Amino acid sequence: MARSALLGSSLAKKYWMALTGLFLCTFLIAHLAGNLQLLDMSPEGQLKFNAYAKFMTTFPLVKLVSYVLYASILFHAFDGFLLAVQNRKARPVKYAHEKAGANSTWYGRQMALLGTLVLVFLIIHMKTFWYEMHWGELGLDVDGNKDLYTLVATVFTQWWYVALYVMSMLVLAYHLLHGFQSAFQSLGLNHPRYTPVIKNVGVFFAVIVPVFFALIPVWMFINA
Ligand code: HEM
Repeated sequence: MARSALLGSSLAKKYWMALTGLFLCTFLIAHLAGNLQLLDMSPEGQLKFNAYAKFMTTFPLVKLVSYVLYASILFHAFDGFLLAVQNRKARPVKYAHEKAGANSTWYGRQMALLGTLVLVFLIIHMKTFWYEMHWGELGLDVDGNKDLYTLVATVFTQWWYVALYVMSMLVLAYHLLHGFQSAFQSLGLNHPRYTPVIKNVGVFFAVIVPVFFALIPVWMFINA
C-alpha cells in the first residue's frame, strides 16, 4: 500500500482513530480500577494508593505502556483534527434536503467538539496530577512514597474542581457513546449478529465508566 494510502486517506485515518481509540478505552478501564482505590479514605487506604502510584510511575513495563499511551493520545487528537478538516472540505455546503438527525445523532455529528473538550480536560487533569507526581514537589508519606493521595484529596475539596470533573465526564460519556461502536465499524467489524451486541456494550461502557470516574471527586468532596 502506498504511503499516502496507509496514512493519508480518510479511510486510513478512521482506521487509526479506531485503533488508538480502543486502546484509550482499555486505558480508561485500568485507570478507573486504580483510581477507585481513592474511595478508601482511611490512613491505610491513602498509603496503599501512594504505593500503587509509585509502582505505576516506576515499573519499567508500565512506563513503556505509558509512552504508548501518550503517543496514542496525541495521534488520536491530531488524526481527529485532520479528519474533521477533511470532512469539512469534502462537504462545504449542506445538501438542501439534508435533515440533521435523520440518520445520525447530535453527539455523532459533534465528535470533534466533544474530543476537543476531552483534550482540554486532559491538559488540566495532567497538569494537576501527572505533572505534579513526576516533576512537582510532593511531600512524602510515612512509607517514604510521594503523597499523591493528599494532593488528589486537597484538589477535590474545591467544589468548582469537582464540578469541572463531573461536567467533563458527561462530555466523555457522549464522546464514548458514539466513539466505541463507531470504532468497530471503522475496523470493518460489521456482523448482523454481533453489531447489536457491540452497540449495547458500547452504551454500557459509555455510561458506567464516566459515572464511576465522576463518583470519585464527588465522594472525596462529600467525605473531606
Ligand atoms: C475522577 C477521575 C480521575 C482521577 C481521580 C484521576 C487521577 C489521576 C492521577 C492521580 C494521575 C497521576 C498518576 C500518575 O502520574 O501516574 C492521573 C494520570 C492520568 N490520567 Fe487521570 N484521573 C481521572 C480521570 C481521568 C480520565 C477520565 C482520563 C482520560 C480521559 C484520565 C487520563 C489520565 C492520563 C492520560 C494520565 C497520565 C497517565 C500516565 O502517566 O500513565 N484521567 N490521573
